[in-house]
Amino acid sequence: MPENKRRILVIDDNVTTLKVISAILTRENYSVFTAGNPPDGLDILRKENMHLVMLDLKMPGMDGLETYKKIREIDRDVSVIIMTAYGTVESAVQAMKLGIDNYLQKPLNFDELKITISKIFEKIVMKEDLAILKGELKGDNIFENMIGKSKKMREIFAKITSIAKTDSTVLITGESGTGKEMAARAIHNLSRRRENKMIVINLAAVPEGLQESEMFGYEKGAFTGAYGSRQGKFELSDRGTIFLDEIGNINYRVQAKLLRVLEERKVEPLGSNKARPIDVRIISATNIDLKSEAANGRFREDLFYRLNVISLHMPALRERKADIPLLSGHFLKEVCLKNSMNEKTISEGALERLMDYNWPGNIRELHNVIEEAVVISSTDVIEADMLNLSYERFASPAADQAAGPQDITLFEVEKKSIVNALIKTKGNQTKAARLLGVTRKMIMNKIEKYHISEIVPVRTRNTKKSQ
Ligand SMILES: Nc1ncnc2c1ncn2[C@@H]1O[C@H](COP(=O)(O)OP(=O)(O)OP(=O)(O)O)[C@@H](O)[C@H]1O
Ligand SMILES: [Mg+2]
Repeated sequence: MPENKRRILVIDDNVTTLKVISAILTRENYSVFTAGNPPDGLDILRKENMHLVMLDLKMPGMDGLETYKKIREIDRDVSVIIMTAYGTVESAVQAMKLGIDNYLQKPLNFDELKITISKIFEKIVMKEDLAILKGELKGDNIFENMIGKSKKMREIFAKITSIAKTDSTVLITGESGTGKEMAARAIHNLSRRRENKMIVINLAAVPEGLQESEMFGYEKGAFTGAYGSRQGKFELSDRGTIFLDEIGNINYRVQAKLLRVLEERKVEPLGSNKARPIDVRIISATNIDLKSEAANGRFREDLFYRLNVISLHMPALRERKADIPLLSGHFLKEVCLKNSMNEKTISEGALERLMDYNWPGNIRELHNVIEEAVVISSTDVIEADMLNLSYERFASPAADQAAGPQDITLFEVEKKSIVNALIKTKGNQTKAARLLGVTRKMIMNKIEKYHISEIVPVRTRNTKKSQ
């Protein structure tokens, strides 16, 4: 199961049972939530993503089977264990009819409890792996407009799907251009709030002095120039989702106000003394490390924890290079179409360079590089020299070595050493030759022999940059 702890909700009206189960399962490293009655349990399930629900069959108010049906309405896929007192055969039979296949008999045998649960989790993990694998077999490389077939992206797609079922607050992290906003949209579009809006507020684009009114609105006369009242983005996103982009740029004072909104689910426009209730799903995104910002006192720690109920980390493109050919092909098609051009292709050499590059600007950068190449190329094939990549960011030799020993041929070693030398010398052949202890003539021959100019830019004495 991806990084998150395995989450279990226990619903039982007996306080002692709740305490005991909770203690045992917490020790087994599960994350345990408890509810003393069905409505509270269902409430938790609506807000939080659970892997398993343990349900007492006999409770005052709403009985277990009725609760079970409600659970299924909220979450089709969550696993459920029914706990029945010894002898309540009829309910057990009924439960079986509903398709509940996991029982524990009360009084609980704790070893049996642990074994049953660990078996259920084995199944859950298998199911998740299978879903990921199925996507791969079907060639499902696109998910809510997001492209990717690497294991990392398929995990992201699975995680977005399960996050969308809940109403929990989400913090999306990742370098710039990794698709944080796309992920936020996917969550919204797959959630029960999809009929309503997702409103975006980019905190980096709003001056600190205006953030509060932009987020929470103001009343007439709240400040000089407030001739009328205006709704804030929180109110505008009522019943929908609000996306707080670049949340690291929020003013420190406004952080306190946001914290209160998160706690009370009410907003109070500037100049008003009436708080209005709002029903909104909050997703924020950042490319900075908020935890260390909190440690340095620049970001409120309590707010960080409130925002980071569920975390979603978008991997950098260099961590999922398997997606580069797919993404490049897709962008190529899109750009050609947009410019009413014949469809172009990418040469092998060019693709090799795309694969070697380490993409500090991630997918956005890849998109731009392809677009630029399409526009400047006059032929139907994109060649390596049409790609505008900077020298410094080619995969470092150190990274190659870190990958561990491999069986490679002597020729490959030679080729690699020359490539590395050229990276170090920013493509200067004379300097690269000196570095490798060979003549310039020799290195020139090898560059030609191995088509090295298709992998890394090479400078000659006459032209400043030639490929
Ligand atoms: N998986 C993907 N498939 C296709 N296009 C993608 C994917 N991820 C991102 N993109 C594209 O890359 C660009 C950047 O995506 P997005 O704006 O979501 O990233 P971001 O993480 O919010 O970036 P920033 O931190 O710079 O705001 C967009 O043009 C988006 O369409
Ligand atoms: Mg963004």
